[in-house]
Amino acid sequence: MAQLFPKKANVLPTLSLAGALFGGVFTIFLVWYYFSPEYTDVGYAPEQPVPYSHRLHAGQLGMDCRYCHNWVEVSAHANVPATQTCMNCHSQVRTQSLKLLPVRESWATGESIEWVKIHKLPDYAQFSHAIHVNSGVGCETCHGRIDEMEVVNQVEPLSMGWCLECHREPELYLRPQDEITTMGYVQPADFVTRNLERILEEGIQPPTNCSACHY
Ligand code: HEC
Ligand code: HEC
Ligand code: HEC
Ligand code: HEC
Ligand code: HEC
Repeated sequence: MAQLFPKKANVLPTLSLAGALFGGVFTIFLVWYYFSPEYTDVGYAPEQPVPYSHRLHAGQLGMDCRYCHNWVEVSAHANVPATQTCMNCHSQVRTQSLKLLPVRESWATGESIEWVKIHKLPDYAQFSHAIHVNSGVGCETCHGRIDEMEVVNQVEPLSMGWCLECHREPELYLRPQDEITTMGYVQPADFVTRNLERILEEGIQPPTNCSACHY
């Protein structure tokens, strides 16, 4: 009898099964890679040496971000506060609290508290807080409702596409200078018009050329 299919065809099902498996694994890998915290870092919220709460201090107590992150308007890096800043209050408030033991130890020994960094750009990408904050980009736009976070977590991808989304249309994001640290900012109706005016007046022009962010 004439063979309809050559003998070799027997391996075909095996091959396509292997192909499907490999393809499946590959898809899983891609999905896992792109959506994992290692890739976007969204949601990254490591445990800190002191259970410090932004919800309590920035939310309930209403402290301004700049009380602690006091370099944010003048330097590329927003600093995490020195132990002294905590002791301004905690030398009087909750002086026996176990949660504050590492703070008192740091104060006594002079060794700084080792806060774990959450937001981190790769070294080949340049970013400055001062320029953004002084051009009307609020903390909330990039960091979310910090005042509601018991533990800080990253809410934006900080990816190149994300940076460029705003750089191409900054009028959709800027806010008045005195609202920079406001949490839960409500945009007025003429928000975009006002921003377009400001952008023209101050010559605000976020760069989209490669060398502005990579050099
Ligand atoms: C009482 C001091 C204090 C105030 C006020 C404060 N912070 Fe913080 N902030 C800290 C400390 C301490 C850390 C490091 C520990 C942590 O991540 O919780 C931190 C961490 C952060 C981080 C994460 C830094 C990283 O590692 O990537 C962001 C973002 C941040 N603060 C934003 C804000 C914003 C926005 C406000 C105002 C709404 C604010 N903070 C108010 C003390 C403060
Ligand atoms: C402006 C004053 C002020 C500053 C500055 C301040 N805190 Fe506080 N903190 C408070 C108050 C008020 C409470 C709440 C006390 C209470 O609930 O009775 C508190 C509570 C805490 C608690 C919870 C203590 C407990 O036993 O439940 C921790 C932890 C804490 N703060 C850490 C810090 C750290 C770390 C810093 C510095 C980055 C800091 N605080 C800076 C005022 C301050
Ligand atoms: C345009 C977006 C943007 C705005 C606006 C912004 N941040 Fe950040 N923030 C970032 C990025 C990106 C990083 C990571 C920087 C790095 O790794 O070099 C970061 C990191 C931080 C850190 C960790 C220390 C550091 O500099 O790496 C703190 C603290 C912080 N931001 C606080 C603030 C506060 C407070 C404000 C408002 C006054 C603010 N940020 C406004 C994007 C922003
Ligand atoms: C929500 C809006 C927004 C986001 C998000 C944003 N930027 Fe910007 N960026 C601006 C504005 C506004 C300026 C100021 C432009 C000016 O003053 O001409 C700016 C300026 C810059 C500059 C030029 C600084 C200089 O020396 O003139 C660099 C570099 C930059 N941004 C990098 C980044 C990077 C990297 C990211 C992402 C991690 C980012 N930006 C995210 C709005 C944004
Ligand atoms: C507004 C700032 C900004 C501009 C302009 C910009 N980049 Fe990027 N780029 C970034 C940031 C931030 C990252 C890191 C993203 C991350 O960590 O996921 C990045 C990552 C990259 C990477 C690493 C691969 C990747 O996608 O993660 C390459 C390659 C790159 N950029 C090339 C370019 C080229 C080419 C241009 C010009 C056409 C350019 N960039 C313009 C901010 C910028």
